[in-house]
Amino acid sequence: MAEPRNRYSTVSLTLHWLIAALVVTQVVLIMIRDAAEGELARTLLDLHKSVGLSILVLTLARLGWRIANPAIPLPESTPRWQKLFARGTHVLFYLFLIAMPLVGWAASSAAGREILWFGLFEWPALPIGGGRETAGQLMDMHELAAKGLYVLIFLHVAGALKHHFIDRDNVLHRMIPWIPRRP
Ligand code: HEM
Ligand code: HEM
Repeated sequence: MAEPRNRYSTVSLTLHWLIAALVVTQVVLIMIRDAAEGELARTLLDLHKSVGLSILVLTLARLGWRIANPAIPLPESTPRWQKLFARGTHVLFYLFLIAMPLVGWAASSAAGREILWFGLFEWPALPIGGGRETAGQLMDMHELAAKGLYVLIFLHVAGALKHHFIDRDNVLHRMIPWIPRRP
């Protein structure tokens, strides 16, 4: 019988940790921007937009990879409701990490703002009119989504730590392979 897989592929690991780091970067950039003024504030927002659009592309790539390479099942000892809860959190992560940049992009487009991706090239605008009013409504959705994302991150990290320190299984090891595997 084939050995059950006990860690994710290098592509899955790289995408998980790269996207996680970029999501944290997004929040940090906005926090610093709130305290900044003038040119620096504009640069930080431009960076936020470029990083956000990169997250969109990486998440779509990750979703494609994920469909082609199914996830490893959680341990049999994990109660069914927890398996469903974890699955729900993961699905919502994909949804949020696609919807949030799309909504930000739509808001920027509605407001007629140009996006220069890391200053390298002009990111195309979406065909959305409505001006500042529509942009404001979209930004309200973006801010609400940010709160939902914080809840997801909290639940996700709490779940990962629970597997490691309470259930004492290998779920965290599969995502952080240098953590020693438990027998
Ligand atoms: C913003 C940060 C993060 C995001 C957006 C994120 C997102 C995700 C997603 C979408 C999955 C599901 C992968 C799939 O099946 O397709 C996943 C799995 C996982 N993540 Fe994260 N993650 C983040 C941070 C973290 C952190 C900080 C930890 C560790 C403390 C962690 C530990 C794990 C583990 C252990 C799994 C595998 C669960 C399993 O095998 O069923 N993640 N993550
Ligand atoms: C996954 C990607 C993204 C994440 C996680 C994210 C996250 C956030 C967060 C946490 C905030 C602060 C919300 C608040 O005030 O409570 C924010 C604000 C904002 N985001 Fe994003 N964002 C993403 C992508 C984008 C993109 C692609 C754009 C535009 C192209 C964008 C444009 C903005 C703007 C204009 C603000 C308001 C900044 C301000 O006036 O202070 N975001 N975002």
